[in-house]
Amino acid sequence: MARTALVTGGSRGIGAAISIALKAAGCNVAATYAGNDEAAAKFTAETGIKTYKWNVGSYEESQAGIAKVEADLGPIDIVVANAGITRDAPFHRMTPAQWHEVIDTNLTGVFNTVHPIWPGMRDRKFGRVVVISSINGQKGQFGQVNYAATKAGDLGIVKSLAQEGARFNITANAICPGYIGTDMVMAVPEKVREGIIAQIPAGRLGEPEEIARCVVFLTADEAGFINGSTITANGAQFFV
Ligand code: CAA
Repeated sequence: MARTALVTGGSRGIGAAISIALKAAGCNVAATYAGNDEAAAKFTAETGIKTYKWNVGSYEESQAGIAKVEADLGPIDIVVANAGITRDAPFHRMTPAQWHEVIDTNLTGVFNTVHPIWPGMRDRKFGRVVVISSINGQKGQFGQVNYAATKAGDLGIVKSLAQEGARFNITANAICPGYIGTDMVMAVPEKVREGIIAQIPAGRLGEPEEIARCVVFLTADEAGFINGSTITANGAQFFV
């Protein structure tokens, strides 16, 4: 039976690779995006994957958007909370606005995405929740007090959801990508980025497909006993 999957931030970067990989694994996939209509239209034209526009930072928008996806594709079995932003600045220059934007999107956005879907997963006694965290939630990062707080928070979310969902055959797991060759990492000043790559034993940035592979693994029907875990995919840059 084909599973229905929702991927937030699923039309670009790591999210796009996840959407494509889940489709290839036989799922009906819906991908959300926040603002880039052109990229979303191009993604749908190229992949046949439907895209939906809403702000994951808004509970009301998430609830309405999820209801629309479920009306179109059926109940959501797999949810990948991937949407995320950076507003990097050293702490002494980080503004309250930069703090709140990142918290709203990356952390509250996970609540807003999973919460409306969760009751249906409990009723149907099946669910796969994957949250895309980050190496920087594990180790912290100069200039990312806001982002690192959200990505560390993701790990607390999945460990708690795992305990609540287990008896309903719902799993919740996190993936901690290292530095992957996406727009987000390419936005880091070139000199800083070169310094980062020098710290990766693999000697290169990761590929979005290398994260998508982890998602396919965790969301399989057969992965029911993998619950509350964190998969690290960072080219050996950091070990917990
Ligand atoms: N550790 C220690 N000191 C550092 C440092 C570090 N990692 N990075 C910078 N500094 C120092 C600099 O050497 C500099 O010191 P001096 O004034 O003595 O020369 C000082 O801090 C200021 O550095 P910048 O000139 O870089 O300051 P800035 O204000 O121009 O920029 C910044 C600050 C925006 C944080 C910039 O350093 C930056 O973009 N850093 C990268 C942060 C990063 O890794 N972001 C990840 C984005 S990708 C992502 O988040 C995806 C994922 O999940 C992995």
